[in-house]
Amino acid sequence: MKVSVGFSCNEITADCADCVIFPLTQESWSTLSSVDFPWLDSTVLARIANDGEFEGKFKQTLLIHGDDRCPRLLFVGLGEEEKRTAKHYRAVGALAAQQLRQRKLTKWAFDLHSIGAQDVSTLVDWLWDGVLLEIYRFDRYQSAEESEPKSCAIQCSFNGVGDDDVSVVEQALHQRETISRGVWLARDLVNEPSNIKTPEYLAKTAWDLAQQLDLTCTVLGQRELERQGFGALLAVAQGSICEPRLIVLDYQGGEEGEQPVALVGKGVTFDSGGISLKPGEGMDQMKMDMAGGATVLATMATIARLELPINVIGVVPAVENMPSDRATRPGDIVTSLSGKTIEILNTDAEGRLILADALTWVKQKDPQLIVDLATLTGACILALGHHASAVLGNDEDLLAELQQAGECVDERLWPLPLFEEYIEQIKSSVADVKNIGGRPAGTITAAAFLQKFVDDTPWAHIDIAGTAWEEKGRAGQPTGGTGYGVRLLAEYLQQRC
Ligand code: BES
Ligand code: MN
Ligand code: ZN
Repeated sequence: MKVSVGFSCNEITADCADCVIFPLTQESWSTLSSVDFPWLDSTVLARIANDGEFEGKFKQTLLIHGDDRCPRLLFVGLGEEEKRTAKHYRAVGALAAQQLRQRKLTKWAFDLHSIGAQDVSTLVDWLWDGVLLEIYRFDRYQSAEESEPKSCAIQCSFNGVGDDDVSVVEQALHQRETISRGVWLARDLVNEPSNIKTPEYLAKTAWDLAQQLDLTCTVLGQRELERQGFGALLAVAQGSICEPRLIVLDYQGGEEGEQPVALVGKGVTFDSGGISLKPGEGMDQMKMDMAGGATVLATMATIARLELPINVIGVVPAVENMPSDRATRPGDIVTSLSGKTIEILNTDAEGRLILADALTWVKQKDPQLIVDLATLTGACILALGHHASAVLGNDEDLLAELQQAGECVDERLWPLPLFEEYIEQIKSSVADVKNIGGRPAGTITAAAFLQKFVDDTPWAHIDIAGTAWEEKGRAGQPTGGTGYGVRLLAEYLQQRC
C-alpha cells in the first residue's frame, strides 16, 4: 500500500475537511452545547444525549452529518478526564482513522478546541501515532478487487493549534511519521511470505537502506561464516537450500570512537522446527520468526532518518530452519564462534543458536551495551500472553530504562528473573551447554543460554514471541506483523541522546 500523509494546523474548523473529528472526554462532552456546533440542527445534541448514543466513554464513536460547512462530525470518546493517558489518545486516533478509512474519506481534521490541551504537541503526537499505526495495510499480493484501495492519500489537519505552537506541533508530526515509516517497514518484512523473504532478501533490504540512508551495510555469506567459525548459526542453516547471512548495519551519528549501542535481532525467515518438526497447524505463522531482525533493520533506518547523535550497530543473523538430509540432527554437537561447544537436543530451539554466534560476533565491536530482540520461546506467550514482551538481562538500569521507554510508547515489557540456579537446566553431560532446558521456565532458560555468550557486557534480551504478531486485528493493529520494538527502541535511543 502506498500511503501519503499530509498535515497542517488550521484555526478554522471544518474548512476543506470531509469529516471533523472531535476527541471528547465524558466531562467535555457534557459541557458542550449547540452553540459549539453551528453546523448542526440545534436539537441534535440533546437527542443524542437523550438516547445515550454517545457519552464520551472510552472508544465510543458516533458519526453524524452536518451541513455544507462541516459535512460530517465524528465524536470519539476519550473516557474520564482524570484517567486519560497516551494510550487513550492513540486509541482515539486509531479509531477515527478506522472509521474514516472504512468510509473512504481522505480529508480529515481533528478539532482540538475541546480537549483543553496544555501540551498540544504531545497530544497531537499521540493522536497521529494512533492514526499512522492504523492506516497500514499489507496488500501487495492482492489485486484491487480483493483489497481496500491500494493507495491511501490522507490529508489531515489539526484545528485549534495556537500560532505559537504550530512549529513544535509540525516538528512532532514529522518525527512521528518518520518513526511510523519504520514500523511499517518492520511490518512489511514480517508479513512477507518466506518463499520471497529469504536470508538473502533481508540482506538486500539492509543493503538498499544503506544506499538511501547514512548507514554502512556489511553482509557475511556462507563462505565467510564458515571461515570465521559460526558453527552454531551454520548448524541451523544447513538444512535449508537458502544460504545464511549475517547482516550488519552500522550507524555513526555520535562521536568518533564512542562505543556503539548494539542491537541484535533474530532473523529466522521460516521456522519449521527442522528435524524436530513443528506440528502443521499454525506453522504458516512461523514466517514471523524474523520479527526481531525486522525490528532491528527498521530501527536502524529510523534512527538514521532521525539523525540521532549516537553510534549504533545493528546485527541480524538470518537463516531458514528446515528439515532435510543435510539438516542438523537432535544430539549433534557443534562448536560455536565463541569456542563453546553446544549439544543440540532440539533443532526447534534454533533462535538461541544463531543469536549465540551473533552476540559473540558483535562483542568484538566493543559495544557499550547490547539489546537483543527475538521471537524466542512459546513459553513467553504462556507467561505473558500478547500484552507484554519478557525482558531479561544482567543490568538492572538497562532493564528499567527499556521498561520505562516501553511504557511511554505502549510497547510493554515485563521482567523475568535470571537467577544462577536456572543455569543447571542447560548443563550438558557431553558439551559445554545444551540448547534446551526442559519444560520449566522455558523463556528464562533460553535467556540463560544467551547469557553464556555475552558475559559481562550490559545486556538485555527481549522475548517478543507474544507481541510480534497480531492474530485477530484491532484498531491500530491490523492482522499480521506488529512492528513491535521499533517505537520502543526509537524512544529508548532518543532518551539516551
Ligand atoms: N520461534 C519459536 C518460538 C515461537 C513460538 C515464537 C510461537 C512465536 C510463536 C522458537 O524457535 C521455538 O520453536 N521455540 C521452542 C523452544 C523449545 C524447543 C525449547 C518452543 O518455544 O517451543
Ligand atoms: Mn524454533
Ligand atoms: Zn524460532
